[in-house]
Amino acid sequence: MIIGDGIRFRAAERTDLQQFVDWLNDPEVRQYLTIYFPMSLAFEEKWFEDNLSKSPDEQALVMEVITEGGWKSIGTISLMNVCNIDREAELGLFIGEKSEWSKGYGKKALKLMLEYAFNTLNLNRVYLRVFENNLRGIRAYKATGFIEEGRMRQAKFCNGKYLDVLIMSVLRSEWQAEN
Ligand SMILES: CC(C)(COP(=O)(O)OP(=O)(O)OC[C@H]1O[C@@H](n2cnc3c(N)ncnc32)[C@H](O)[C@@H]1OP(=O)(O)O)[C@@H](O)C(=O)NCCC(=O)NCCS
Repeated sequence: MIIGDGIRFRAAERTDLQQFVDWLNDPEVRQYLTIYFPMSLAFEEKWFEDNLSKSPDEQALVMEVITEGGWKSIGTISLMNVCNIDREAELGLFIGEKSEWSKGYGKKALKLMLEYAFNTLNLNRVYLRVFENNLRGIRAYKATGFIEEGRMRQAKFCNGKYLDVLIMSVLRSEWQAEN
């Protein structure tokens, strides 16, 4: 496991899939992700099997936080498009438990994943894409060292209008200077 302060990432299991489907079918969660259609368990099972053929550093991880009742799954986090030549990866995450939004878990998860990316995987750049209306996400990304490096104009059509998609990244040198 990847273990931080009151937060940890573990490998996703088949038994997590129904929970993922429930989270990803929630329009409030889905509006910030590139998912447009109602999702079935069968679809998620296929995604899981396909995912297993990816390299270990690109596997989807379950984000768990410590509560009075023990460890609780609240969402997923993963690195994608890991490039071993350019030493970069794209980060994706979502907290599916809406009751756990804005409690600082996103920032904790981002800090832990950046430490893992730079200190364990020896990456040099971690980037992500975020829709311009995702103010909570953008704030969490800025707080953990991501800077906006570009903007894809009107790249996302959502709820009847086009949104810009921000590209944000953090470099290892910037992260090291702050940690
Ligand atoms: C984006 C996400 C990962 C952030 O995690 P989180 O635990 O909710 O965020 P945090 O509590 O760590 O930080 C959020 C920050 O935004 C602030 N915030 C909350 N709502 C806000 C809003 N409507 N506008 C501006 N800032 C807001 C919080 O106060 C906090 O700022 P702080 O550092 O001053 O305390 C999570 O909300 C989530 O998964 N959302 C749904 C899916 C999603 O958006 N995934 C990411 C796609 S790029």
